[in-house]
Amino acid sequence: MTSPQPIPQPGPSLPLIPTRPTLLMCAPTLYDVTYVINPWMAGNVHTASRDRANTQWRHLHDALAEVAEVLLVAPQPGSPDMVFTANAGLERDGIVVLSSFFHPERQDEEQHFQRWFDQAGYTVLSLPRTEPFEGEGDALFSIDGSRLWVGFGPRTLLASHALLARTWPVEVASLHLVDPRFYHLDTCFAPLEDGSVLYYPGAFDQPSLASIESFYPPELRIPVAEEDATRFACNAVTIGSRIFMNRVSPTLSSHLTARGFEVVQLDLSEFLKAGGAAKCLVMKLSHTRALSRTTISLVI
Ligand code: ARG
Repeated sequence: MTSPQPIPQPGPSLPLIPTRPTLLMCAPTLYDVTYVINPWMAGNVHTASRDRANTQWRHLHDALAEVAEVLLVAPQPGSPDMVFTANAGLERDGIVVLSSFFHPERQDEEQHFQRWFDQAGYTVLSLPRTEPFEGEGDALFSIDGSRLWVGFGPRTLLASHALLARTWPVEVASLHLVDPRFYHLDTCFAPLEDGSVLYYPGAFDQPSLASIESFYPPELRIPVAEEDATRFACNAVTIGSRIFMNRVSPTLSSHLTARGFEVVQLDLSEFLKAGGAAKCLVMKLSHTRALSRTTISLVI
């Protein structure tokens, strides 16, 4: 007689998968300023040095790779702004809402990003051409994930926010961008990993500012001065206690240091000529998909 089989119990928890975030970047081998679709590009057509851009991008890439998995999408001829992968789309829980670019100059990028997401196993949702949406450049989750802040005005159309609200169980808060220099939300607003927010108040209309201020109490607000905002200080990537950004004023960097951040300042001058800096060059992805693909290829 065999003794009864023990009822299977949940085993000891699986070894924890390291929660290094996954980022998507695109090397600037085909980067250039070839058209003008934001005020920063004016006067900068063909003024960016590709060599310097490569070096600056490599420094950002290597600094991020110390704390994150960095995946790459191949640059494509005719899409010089593809380096700004924040504009590929917005991803959460394996679903990507693909960007639908406002300017025809960037619309070719959509097919290239779509192919990458398809091959990586994401479910891709698209918006009609009549509803521009520029991805993570205009849509940022609060650190607790409860709220999705979405910009509208210069690029993303307010009407596109409805699809975002239907896609994820999250409260969508729309923010009206009113200064043409800060044409994407990620140029003037950055939720930081300690729950605070770095933002340039001058980029928003009054109701939007009120909405930011009712979510973040005063001690969690870090308003930046115009001098730093125009250095793309808010275009920052935060991972753990590190914050990666273009060079900013000593005042702002010491303020962030005093709050416990390790401020990693990088020279991103060549990308500023196209109207982007650290955050524009990065899209955050849920790590689960990329890791499960890695796991599968290891098992096979
Ligand atoms: N030249 C690009 C554009 O105007 C820059 C994009 C910057 N990306 C961003 N996420 N803010 O679309």
